[in-house]
Amino acid sequence: MTLIDARSVAADPQSTARLADAGLEYRVVDMADATAGVAFARADARGFLDADPGEEQIARMREAWQDRRNIGVFEPGAVPEAFPVATVNSWVAPLTVPGGEVPMWAISSVTVAATHRRRGIARNLLEGELRSAASAGVPIAGLTVSEATIYSRYGFAPAIPVARVVIDPRRAGWIGVRRPAAWSTSTARPPPQSWGTCSSAPAPDGPGRSRAGSCVGCAKRVSPRTTPRARPCAECAISTPTAGPGACSRTR
Ligand SMILES: CC(C)(COP(=O)(O)OP(=O)(O)OC[C@H]1O[C@@H](n2cnc3c(N)ncnc32)[C@H](O)[C@@H]1OP(=O)(O)O)[C@@H](O)C(=O)NCCC(=O)NCCS
Repeated sequence: MTLIDARSVAADPQSTARLADAGLEYRVVDMADATAGVAFARADARGFLDADPGEEQIARMREAWQDRRNIGVFEPGAVPEAFPVATVNSWVAPLTVPGGEVPMWAISSVTVAATHRRRGIARNLLEGELRSAASAGVPIAGLTVSEATIYSRYGFAPAIPVARVVIDPRRAGWIGVRRPAAWSTSTARPPPQSWGTCSSAPAPDGPGRSRAGSCVGCAKRVSPRTTPRARPCAECAISTPTAGPGACSRTR
């Protein structure tokens, strides 16, 4: 199966016209253009309430998106560094169906700035993507969503009723926001008496100890109810794969 390059499909004329009527500019963004690419990446992060991405993260985002058709909606006359007020991107990927594969128009990065919501911009983004897919002869579109409730109006429905995700904590790492180091000292937040502490940290009522309900990797409190025997707390298990009794590698 030959997959078409979504970047070869021009911005949808109907959404271009509708958003122009609303005083907005809907156009393809060139990810190779540093100024435009950075603004697009930062607008995407803003849309999902992420922290403003640093240079390295922006470079990764731009690299990942350079093969996609990236569309931004702009206030006319905005300076080149201005964030788009809305973003979406798409690419064509194979979808396995009974009997083989079909090309699927994959959609991602749907964001509208809080200042511009509820004016029909997302509707124009989504409908624009669907018209583009149809004009390119791509028979189906798909997306993964964080706002699951809004997509049925565009014809989307859950593809699977349930997803079960199993994470091997020895092979995964936390990449989100970390607590300030000061929070993890046992003096900053003394554990309640009913909760244990790890063997490498001073316990509230004596030298270090490890027991049912304790984190064996750090001083973090672990509910005995959810932790029937001594083992690393979830955070230690993810960030320090080798954590074991007395082997806490976290900086306190
Ligand atoms: C979700 C989001 C894209 C909607 O953008 P928007 O431009 O305000 O949406 P629109 O004005 O085009 O509304 C489209 C439809 O969705 C509905 N809608 C919009 N936001 C909604 C919400 N939060 N909850 C329920 N319905 C919502 C509108 O009522 C409208 O319905 P209608 O056209 O049938 O009358 C925007 O709020 C956003 O960027 N959120 C943060 C990022 C995010 O969650 N993106 C989606 C990733 S899956």
